[in-house]
Amino acid sequence: MAATSASALSIGSTISNGSKATPLMQSNTFGVTFNSQNHIKSFTGLKAAASVSCESSFLGKESTTALHYSFARKSQNQHQTSRNVLQVKASFKVAILGAAGGIGQPLALLVKMSPLVSDLHLYDIANVKGVAADLSHCNTPSRVQDFTGNDELANCLKDVDVVVIPAGVPRKPGMTRDDLFNINAGIVKTLIEAVADNCPDAFIHIISNPVNSTVPIAAEVLKQKGVYNPKKLFGVTTLDVVRANTFVAQKKNVKLIDVDVPVVGGHAGITILPLLSKTKPSVAFTDEEVHDLTVRIQNGGTEVVEAKAGAGSATLSMAYAAARFLESSLRALDGDSDVYECAFVESQVTELPFFASRIKLGKKGVEAVIASDLEGLTEYEKKGLEALKGELKGSIEKGVAFAQKQTVSA
Ligand SMILES: NC(=O)c1ccc[n+]([C@@H]2O[C@H](COP(=O)([O-])OP(=O)(O)OC[C@H]3O[C@@H](n4cnc5c(N)ncnc54)[C@H](O)[C@@H]3O)[C@@H](O)[C@H]2O)c1
Repeated sequence: MAATSASALSIGSTISNGSKATPLMQSNTFGVTFNSQNHIKSFTGLKAAASVSCESSFLGKESTTALHYSFARKSQNQHQTSRNVLQVKASFKVAILGAAGGIGQPLALLVKMSPLVSDLHLYDIANVKGVAADLSHCNTPSRVQDFTGNDELANCLKDVDVVVIPAGVPRKPGMTRDDLFNINAGIVKTLIEAVADNCPDAFIHIISNPVNSTVPIAAEVLKQKGVYNPKKLFGVTTLDVVRANTFVAQKKNVKLIDVDVPVVGGHAGITILPLLSKTKPSVAFTDEEVHDLTVRIQNGGTEVVEAKAGAGSATLSMAYAAARFLESSLRALDGDSDVYECAFVESQVTELPFFASRIKLGKKGVEAVIASDLEGLTEYEKKGLEALKGELKGSIEKGVAFAQKQTVSA
């Protein structure tokens, strides 16, 4: 991230007194930036500063513009009541289940930096006390609480607005997909039962793999509990978009902040389909570049697993991606009417019951699925779309079958 002045940067948002706003022309998702040209009198992010300029963001130029716009509007409103004292209202409760893990810990740190979060609940079956104690010393607004083990899960989830679930095991060398499925399917089922009992209205972000199956499992459990709301259940595929944006910017020497590539389908191997023809800004690719980039985006996880040489999988980039998706959700909950992300959700854009595509997020969850992204595809993308359907269908059905064989807790 290119901070252009020596100060602080914040995940989430802060307000700048006097930032110039440009009305938003295009869709946006979450952006992290602040650009105070005058004074920040009160700042709830990492560190108060008189003048901060940070060009980059989670998302890019569109988000940055949107955020400026959003804060300028808020600034104007708040000026009317409280001159020179500007404060983003930290009002959302977020729970992370699996918070002591490789993804959970950096994710918790990023969420602790969000001025939109008032309460951060960290849950794990492993010791999460230390993580919470450590984080609680950061002078950012949210109150951090730890919850360990099943007995404390209900309290962790009470009145939570968003639940993020990275609990489970990552794929390790020698582990088959079935091994991973068998462990994580059970973990997700148990956790979703508790979500259904304690915060059925929350947005649910599922990170635990295989997402192509764990999301349908969650849907089935919620249905069995009578509280399924398809608009609020999301498989987090943001890392695929983050990777696509990064790899395209590198390959084409485009300014990273400008790049946005929609990624559709699912979240494993060939089910990940980057729509490079829909890259913004428009970029020309040779057939070879399209193939190389597509394969690299699909195998991004393996690239990290191999580089870590058996010591883990993608955790830091995943935490970053999950924080971006969370912040987008919080912005939508906060009333921002222009929030778009890709996610794996219940869908009618293809014949498959779940599909990752660009969605518009609102206060009530998914407001729209952007089906038009699947129009006007290149031959390569059309073939990729047809090729992924069989595998994705199988993974969805496997999840549904698993959940239907289980009995949910009363
Ligand atoms: N969606 C994605 O893009 C993406 C990317 C990378 C990894 N993942 C997945 O995320 C998951 C977590 O990966 P990681 O690297 O953080 O693993 P990790 O092993 O480092 O951490 C997992 C954490 O979950 C906890 N846990 C296990 N069972 C639990 C339960 N029943 N309740 C609460 N907590 C429980 C563990 O104690 C541990 O702290 C894996 O399934 C991995 O495959 C998803």
